[in-house]
Amino acid sequence: MSEVSQPMFPISRPRRLRRTAQIRAMLRETELTPTDFIYPVFVRPGAGIRQPITSMPGISQWSVDRLVEEAAEAFELGVPAVMLFGIPEHKDPMGSENFAPDGIVQQAIRALKQAVPELVVMTDVCLCEYTDHGHCGVLNEGIQSQLPHGAILNDPTLDILSKVAVSHAQAGADLVAPSGMMDGMVKAIRAGLDEAGYDQVAILSYAIKYASGFYGPFREAAESPPKFGDRKSHQMDPANAREALREAALDIQEGADILMVKPALPYLDILQRVSQTYPHLPLAAYNVSGEYAMLKAAAANGWLEERTVVLEALTGIKRAGAELILTYHAKEAAHWLKEG
Ligand code: PBG
Repeated sequence: MSEVSQPMFPISRPRRLRRTAQIRAMLRETELTPTDFIYPVFVRPGAGIRQPITSMPGISQWSVDRLVEEAAEAFELGVPAVMLFGIPEHKDPMGSENFAPDGIVQQAIRALKQAVPELVVMTDVCLCEYTDHGHCGVLNEGIQSQLPHGAILNDPTLDILSKVAVSHAQAGADLVAPSGMMDGMVKAIRAGLDEAGYDQVAILSYAIKYASGFYGPFREAAESPPKFGDRKSHQMDPANAREALREAALDIQEGADILMVKPALPYLDILQRVSQTYPHLPLAAYNVSGEYAMLKAAAANGWLEERTVVLEALTGIKRAGAELILTYHAKEAAHWLKEG
């Protein structure tokens, strides 16, 4: 009979360190705090309006006056920042209201900065909420003969994105966040901002954005579904990971201050790879509308315990490497974290 070899030290018994709440708290590796959160908000024209979004229980489109109250509540709970999305009065092929000095987002930025000066105001910079066709760029209407009719034209779109970013900066935005996945968008926006004297306005780039089905509820919220086709000519294929590193490298080269991966939960491997490959840049993750809707729906049915799964999901996103999390759960999660 062969003898079982004895280890030199007694085998570790990890449960010793899980015995009490205090020991567990001391050894916790990832601590979620409200300062990790950025709260995405939707603003629409009018006054006194709170228009709930059916597929995102608890989330609404707000008129500017009501948005200010909502953002102030979030700020009170310790959430330092909002990401603004606008639903304009009129849409046209170029999305002109996007850079109008009195556009809906510009009005909202000024009102927020006046009411809560310390609130960090970030803005989404894209065309899809403003164009009548719902696409993220200018469409080919015979301008480019090599491209099919209706294709999104990259470089003409860059000029508009740069104008939009400058107009948000003029209104008082702290950071601008281009989300359209156009090639060269960060460079064009950086140049536009610097030229206009806004070298202090930072760029959070949606550097790695997948062509995801999880944006469904957002498209209801922002009234921005494409009228035809899809976004696969500019957003990334969900099957690709190496390509994410290339996108990150390009945006860093172009001058991005913060990178973002979107969506979050189905892409935690991407978050981890990007944070390990580029540890010198802050990294954000967008816990998108569909991820929110899933947990809300399960909780509403009593199938999941909401507080537990929301905090678990957000902790997972942070553990994977995100320092900032855009999440519709921001207010509730901040409230739960405060309660302890
Ligand atoms: C585009 C944009 C989208 C989201 C944020 N910015 C939608 C899209 O690409 O179709 C989705 C966010 C979410 O689902 O919560 N401006």
